[in-house]
Amino acid sequence: MSKEVNIAILGATGAVGQELLELLAERQFPVKNLKLLASARSVGSKIEFQGTELTVEEVTSDSFDDVDIVLASAGGSTSKAWAKTAVKAGAVVIDNSSAFRMNPDVPLVVPEINPQAASKHQGIIANPNCTTILMGLAIYPLHREQSLKRVVVATYQSASGAGARAMAELKTQAKAILAGETPQAEVLPHPIAFNLFPHNSPLDERGYCEEEMKMVNETRKIFDAPELKVSATCVRVPVLRAHSETVNLEFERPFSVERAREILANAPGVKLVEDWQSNYFPMPIDATGKDPVLVGRIRQDISHPNSLELWLCGDQIRKGAALNAVQIAELMLAENLLTTSTSMAI
Ligand code: A2P
Repeated sequence: MSKEVNIAILGATGAVGQELLELLAERQFPVKNLKLLASARSVGSKIEFQGTELTVEEVTSDSFDDVDIVLASAGGSTSKAWAKTAVKAGAVVIDNSSAFRMNPDVPLVVPEINPQAASKHQGIIANPNCTTILMGLAIYPLHREQSLKRVVVATYQSASGAGARAMAELKTQAKAILAGETPQAEVLPHPIAFNLFPHNSPLDERGYCEEEMKMVNETRKIFDAPELKVSATCVRVPVLRAHSETVNLEFERPFSVERAREILANAPGVKLVEDWQSNYFPMPIDATGKDPVLVGRIRQDISHPNSLELWLCGDQIRKGAALNAVQIAELMLAENLLTTSTSMAI
């Protein structure tokens, strides 16, 4: 990976943007020039990258000239507003938002699962939803061994999924409650400290929220398994920045726990955390700041002979967002995929 490239981070002042900066440095990504883009609110803010102080700029139509890769983490509406402009300027956009994920012309990539999909890009590659990435890492290796029939998942999602302001709100509310005051909810719809609530994304006519349907549709697309049955319940919990999930997996035939454990012990991006004697299993505080998804409590579902249960925790900002995006960028360089078609249909 010797070629140096020009990178722009769109949403550089946000929680994922900040993690992208750390990861580019930590993984010694070959950055030639780095441009930090955000909204007009942040113009002039200073952010340090590898000993150099960089100034945040407002994103404009000229922002992407000479940029090779845009790492976009400023939300769906910002991506919709700027991705095409960036692609027309010759950049490849690795987009963290949900804006293009289900577009058939946009690959949805988890490098450990479907790296081959990246080669079909037309300028935009989508980074999946955090809960989908974390679950995918843990269940795809099992799906490869024996096709999954049905997945039932419940999530315990940290405040970080709603951005840096939601993380700050969790801390402020916790302090307020401990001081005997009434917590104020401004970013999230309800108090999150010492509370939890079903994910507040829009509901469909069947009662599923958007976050839950992302897990259904994105998992199918990444696994290239359009018939896979998935049902999800997504819940926001008062954890700062790592998501947890309980996953029930139904296969066509019985799947031995020992074989599942053996597969996951060697799966890329996964770390098995199972100390049955001391009842020590993955926890969000252990996953925070770490790359692998922690998986444990793999057990036979006593209610179904062909089903397994497992539990996982993964850093939502890292592998759930920024790390996956940087890994896609690394894949682009390694596979020489940085050419774009400006005639994309998006
Ligand atoms: P800003 O700090 O200027 O608002 P988070 O998900 O942690 O809340 O971060 C969101 C990121 O997206 C921030 O960097 C934020 O910049 C950026 N952002 C939000 N809206 C826009 C916009 N309209 N144009 C460009 N950047 C935006």
